[in-house]
Amino acid sequence: MTELLRADGLSAFYGASQILFDIDLVLEEKCTLALLGRNGAGKSTTMKTLAGIVPAGSGRIVLAGRDITHAPPHARAKLGLAYVPEDRQVFPEHTVEDNLLIAAKSGPDGRRDWTLPRIWDAFPLLANLRARQAGRLSGGEQQLLVIARALMGNPLVLLLDEPSEGLAPIVVATISRMLRELRASGATILLAEQNMHFCLRIAEMAVVIDKGKVVHREDTAGLAGNDDIRRRYLAI
Ligand SMILES: Nc1ncnc2c1ncn2[C@@H]1O[C@H](COP(=O)(O)OP(=O)(O)OP(=O)(O)O)[C@@H](O)[C@H]1O
Ligand SMILES: [Mg+2]
Repeated sequence: MTELLRADGLSAFYGASQILFDIDLVLEEKCTLALLGRNGAGKSTTMKTLAGIVPAGSGRIVLAGRDITHAPPHARAKLGLAYVPEDRQVFPEHTVEDNLLIAAKSGPDGRRDWTLPRIWDAFPLLANLRARQAGRLSGGEQQLLVIARALMGNPLVLLLDEPSEGLAPIVVATISRMLRELRASGATILLAEQNMHFCLRIAEMAVVIDKGKVVHREDTAGLAGNDDIRRRYLAI
């Protein structure tokens, strides 16, 4: 299998306080890896450090064989790293379709697998809302839109920060189904989540972090039955 994203010994700081300690991650092509941890564990900081929004204090980040540790966020995006932050920012005055078209570009390898017609096909809910102003969408619809928008850039790797957060169960189920379909279609995803159940049917492997450190790695099926780890490190 091809390794698409790797972090070795990553640390990160906000001012003087160290938030991440020696994080190691490997994401293989066409796999979904869950990054699990409770509130404040360091999931978003890990995602931001991978995306280049928070500088790495030490360690190394490699994307498709290239060292991107010191590359600015736009350069990482250009090399195929798409980051979908937890705040679901859309261009509120623009339509759903325009939000998608703004982000359209070919991937770093020249691929253009994701086009508007394929997005409408994969996200029928968005197809029905294509002319709607993005600011008028529900939280769940906005979450679908930001994931679809990231795909329009034909990335090699998607970093998704808590896509299920704060959404109603029925919407969470829709997003879960869509992410399973994405994985089946060959997408490579790092999925940060508090909700282990959400990850179970999406990710094969999970890395659990707590207080900025990796405390456990296991396949998600095993983790679901691992009461000790779940009680200690996850909010369930
Ligand atoms: N901008 C910031 N400045 C200082 N400290 C921060 C900042 N952002 C986050 N932190 C701290 O860093 C730690 C990790 O936060 P982070 O947002 O990465 O956690 P998280 O796992 O994403 O949590 P959540 O599940 O709530 O999204 C927390 O202790 C948090 O208070
Ligand atoms: Mg977070």
